[in-house]
Amino acid sequence: MENQKVVVITGASNGMGFEAAKLFASKGWQVFAGARRVEKIPTAKNITALKLDVTVSESNHSFIQSILDKTGRIDVLINNAGYGEYGPAEEIPMENIRKQFETNFFGAVELSQLVLPTMRTQKFGRIVNISSIGGDLYMPLGAFYHATKAALQQWSDVLDTEVSQFGIRSIVVQPGGTESSWGAIALENAEKNLKENSAYQPIIDSLRGVFSGSMGAGATSAQLAEVFYKAATDENPKHRYFHSFGDRSIVHIARAHPRLFLRVFKIMMNRMAKNSK
Ligand SMILES: NC(=O)c1ccc[n+]([C@@H]2O[C@H](COP(=O)([O-])OP(=O)(O)OC[C@H]3O[C@@H](n4cnc5c(N)ncnc54)[C@H](OP(=O)(O)O)[C@@H]3O)[C@@H](O)[C@H]2O)c1
Repeated sequence: MENQKVVVITGASNGMGFEAAKLFASKGWQVFAGARRVEKIPTAKNITALKLDVTVSESNHSFIQSILDKTGRIDVLINNAGYGEYGPAEEIPMENIRKQFETNFFGAVELSQLVLPTMRTQKFGRIVNISSIGGDLYMPLGAFYHATKAALQQWSDVLDTEVSQFGIRSIVVQPGGTESSWGAIALENAEKNLKENSAYQPIIDSLRGVFSGSMGAGATSAQLAEVFYKAATDENPKHRYFHSFGDRSIVHIARAHPRLFLRVFKIMMNRMAKNSK
């Protein structure tokens, strides 16, 4: 269908990206969904599953080129692929820190560069960057995850000032704790990145419950997919989208009242750790 809108979603083999692919397809969009585990991407008439590793430049190039060859247009790019390379800032190997930035930040940057010429020609396009409330707030062991999400937000805002003149917007969704594989992967990485007899072992032990409770999941991935959809389709998009008033409020507190944030966050962490035991 010539007028069918085209959305490109990264990280669509699980969690929010998986649900977003299903949701956009159900609304009649043509969905191009990428992930390394291509076989786990949902199957539906409107969904084309493509192998994608956002840390590999050739993979990003061939992913976007194959979509443009088929459609000639891209209305929305959702930079969703991401994970948490958790562990003590002192001990995470540099190689893993670089992988964290390649996945959560540089992947989004390169894919955006690849779609922008087409969006400029169309005089329309939207880039939806999936950050986190952790782009503004922070917890121990998440130094590089938080750094990538903060970078993503700053970059997205600058990009927006440059491309809005062409009818293109670059905006940010900041999920809070959401049911997905994210917590299990972050915990696995935190354990893997810990050196033998590490002085930081007690921090991991005290936060294990927080991770296994999906960071106090207050939402399902399907609910976040609805937020992605709103961010992609609002006529006058906002710079930031949140799932809940609580997520928006804690981000506001972290930005405007950093000392109060530390106090509130400590209480929240203790509660989450207790609830998930
Ligand atoms: N869940 C939360 O509590 C939470 C909170 C705030 C923000 N977020 C953010 O939300 C986004 C979605 O996370 P989620 O919760 O849905 O996690 P998830 O269930 O672990 O899904 C992550 C997705 O990212 C993909 N991915 C990871 N590395 C990739 C790579 N190198 N190339 C291509 N795809 C890659 C994975 O696919 P493959 O492994 O198959 O490649 C998977 O489809 C992430 O950016 C995450 O940081 C999550």
